[in-house]
Amino acid sequence: MPPSAKGSYLIIGSGVFGISTAYYLSLKYPEASITVLDRSIEFPCPLAASHDFNKIVRADYGNPFYCKLALEARKLWKTDPLYSSFYHESGMVNVDDTGLGRRILKNYEDLDEHPGASIINPDELKLKFDGLFTDTNYEGVDEIFYNPVSGWAEATAAVKAVVEASTVRGVKFVSANVEQLYFNESGSCAGVKCADGRIMIADSTILSTGAGTAKLLARSASNHPELQSGDRVTAAAVVTGIIRLSLEQRPRFKNSPVFIHSMAGVLGEVLPMTADGLLKFCVDVSFKNSLQDELSRQVISAPPDMTDQNQHKVSETLKEECSRVLKGVFGTELAGSQFDSFRICWDGITPNQDFIISSHPRCQNLYIATGGSFHGWKFLPIIGKYVVSMISGDLEDGLRKRWAWDRDQQGSAHQKIIPKRELCDLV
Ligand SMILES: Cc1cc2nc3c(=O)[nH]c(=O)nc-3n(C[C@H](O)[C@H](O)[C@H](O)COP(=O)(O)OP(=O)(O)OC[C@H]3O[C@@H](n4cnc5c(N)ncnc54)[C@H](O)[C@@H]3O)c2cc1C
Ligand SMILES: *[C@@H]1O[C@H](CO)[C@@H](O)[C@H](O)[C@H]1NC(C)=O
Repeated sequence: MPPSAKGSYLIIGSGVFGISTAYYLSLKYPEASITVLDRSIEFPCPLAASHDFNKIVRADYGNPFYCKLALEARKLWKTDPLYSSFYHESGMVNVDDTGLGRRILKNYEDLDEHPGASIINPDELKLKFDGLFTDTNYEGVDEIFYNPVSGWAEATAAVKAVVEASTVRGVKFVSANVEQLYFNESGSCAGVKCADGRIMIADSTILSTGAGTAKLLARSASNHPELQSGDRVTAAAVVTGIIRLSLEQRPRFKNSPVFIHSMAGVLGEVLPMTADGLLKFCVDVSFKNSLQDELSRQVISAPPDMTDQNQHKVSETLKEECSRVLKGVFGTELAGSQFDSFRICWDGITPNQDFIISSHPRCQNLYIATGGSFHGWKFLPIIGKYVVSMISGDLEDGLRKRWAWDRDQQGSAHQKIIPKRELCDLV
């Protein structure tokens, strides 16, 4: 059945892509039956990339397309009461030597946007933020990008608010580990089979499965290579570390910005302190977990198979990388502070970091909406609108081509995060 106002929709995955799609579907088709499935009993699922203390919200992209798209999202972050209480404009600093800051400024100029962003030098930065970055590693740094209106959002809380708004509009949330897609005799997608044997039928099935996408397709259609993802979307991860600041330390961090450092072996970022004194560091060097899939006999990168994906089992090498970012960004400022916890966080990445928002060209009634590629979270307020347009067949031509399942992987939206190493080597 073609998508329709009274049809049934099954969305697999409760990250930003799945939840925003459910919400926009419920707005466009109030009489439709819309169900979101995930492996957890809470939504969003704690294993999702979308589940986190905080995420960066910025329109500061070197890529003009995502700069414009993020400005659209930012407007809702600022003004829509569904999102605005979770959004904080702390400012953002980006230290790099590829001229990224200049490319960002050029994009704003071309769009006639004036966020007040500028290029500053290390001495100017040391005078900002109460001198918090006096001892930062500035080796080889001449130009620093600073945008006072970029910031961050309380990630899990914001997604939960959209879950609640969707529930009010009739969307159902069901705990289920999807084992396979379910095809009818003509090979059209008719729903899913769950690990506990349940079969759920729907007119349209939407995969918003992030890092789990390649594996689910492989398990569903092991003898049908034409249905599988190949290198269109693979699982990659980065490590994050949390420092709980003492009550004495907290006042100094009250106005700290998002800080991205991409030089002198310090590749990572730190987010502003949360209300309960947590500082989240992230190492911006990703990795895969490639294994031979028994059924389909292809090599697929997927999160570890344990129920919690071993997300808190972090090796000494990765812990050391977090410490390196800590020292590079704060120098002696945080000397003596210890990480409280670590997490390995998996996302679905595409070769050019463009999302996938597409029908599956070789399977009727199957849609894919994922591939956030380590920059997708900030689009929570708008991304579902584009997914619903795609399903309804009225996605603008340029977007349809950019986000297609089959496409030329041209350009790049977040190139530095492409995985070049394997989890098994990071012992
Ligand atoms: C550490 C880290 C930091 C990031 N920082 C930022 C940032 O600052 N700003 C930004 O904009 N973006 C950021 N990103 C990127 C962003 O978080 C992701 O691109 C985005 O959240 C992906 O959303 P998604 O809905 O595609 O996937 P997810 O949020 O991962 O959701 C996928 C869901 O599908 C479920 N699923 C998968 N397979 C199955 C199955 N077989 N059965 C049932 N359920 C299944 C999973 O359980 C999961 O809940 C970051 C990513 C990471 C990892
Ligand atoms: C399978 O589903 C498609 C799409 O809904 C439909 O056109 C087709 O008739 C179905 N095939 C069978 C054998 O039920």
